[in-house]
Amino acid sequence: MRKEKQLIEKRLKNLLKNKKDIPHQILYDAANYSMDSSAKRIRPLLLLATVKSFNKRVTCAIDPACALELVHSYSLIHDDLPSMDNDDLRRGKPTLHKKYPEWVAILTGDFLLTYAFEILSDSKNLDATQKVNLIKILSNYSGGNGLIAGQIVDLISENKKIEIEMLEFMHIHKTSKLFQAAMEMGCIISKANKTITKKLSSLAEKLGIIFQLQDDILDVSSTEKVLGKKIHSDQKLNKATYVSILGLPKAKELLKKQEKEILDILNSLPIETKYLKNLIDLIFKRKK
Ligand code: IPE
Ligand code: IPE
Ligand code: MG
Ligand code: MG
Ligand code: MG
Repeated sequence: MRKEKQLIEKRLKNLLKNKKDIPHQILYDAANYSMDSSAKRIRPLLLLATVKSFNKRVTCAIDPACALELVHSYSLIHDDLPSMDNDDLRRGKPTLHKKYPEWVAILTGDFLLTYAFEILSDSKNLDATQKVNLIKILSNYSGGNGLIAGQIVDLISENKKIEIEMLEFMHIHKTSKLFQAAMEMGCIISKANKTITKKLSSLAEKLGIIFQLQDDILDVSSTEKVLGKKIHSDQKLNKATYVSILGLPKAKELLKKQEKEILDILNSLPIETKYLKNLIDLIFKRKK
């Protein structure tokens, strides 16, 4: 997916370009700073890999993929704020509120989130129904019963012992929902049928859980240099994670089990699976 990553980087740069010396220049500078190309771009790549699985061209999927990455990046900017996770390193650099005043970080998050929906409504070579459905999925999955619900549970669970079911709710919402958005948006663009869309969405849900499980494991076992963010950040805030609830060995066991389940779903699908397999394999092996 190297070529696709380049396409995403190029388009993101373009989308975040504005005339020079505008009164609100700082907003565009901050947006460009936060959209660092060292980001993995997993969610947009997942969207493009889904489209390729249906043997469709990715051209008309690039803008929706970028819109999704903007929503993800907004969520990280806000996630790092002092009132939330209070982190000072992201993507190997000072977090946005460390580089700029906090109000710039808040407004940049707002900007990326709203801009995502403008981009979706402007996307080329998609019909009106497809655009409305893309907007519906992304707003729903990033909204009050989606990512934001997960972030709320994450924050109210600090310093608390929560049940594993609540932990799963939190992971599914704060992380899986954007993975599901990626695959369902890919399905909308490819005009996939309902049955296969549902299967891919449930695969994405599991993939999101794995992804967050890895994130929680990396937080206690990686290094700041490799990860590009501070380690032991969860412990510092006494966060509820799979590691804090199950312990590291059990968390790793669960990871292996979930990986197998994902491959089983993938192998049962009547699509060209090689693109998704490659990407999922990269996710399984990720070190950052
Ligand atoms: C970080 O997401 C937040 C989680 C859901 C764990 P990524 O690990 O995809 O972060 P970037 O975009 O590559 O920086
Ligand atoms: C995921 O959780 C954040 C979002 C869904 C926005 P974390 O808080 O663990 O993510 P990192 O570790 O800061 O990247
Ligand atoms: Mg968080
Ligand atoms: Mg965080
Ligand atoms: Mg984390």
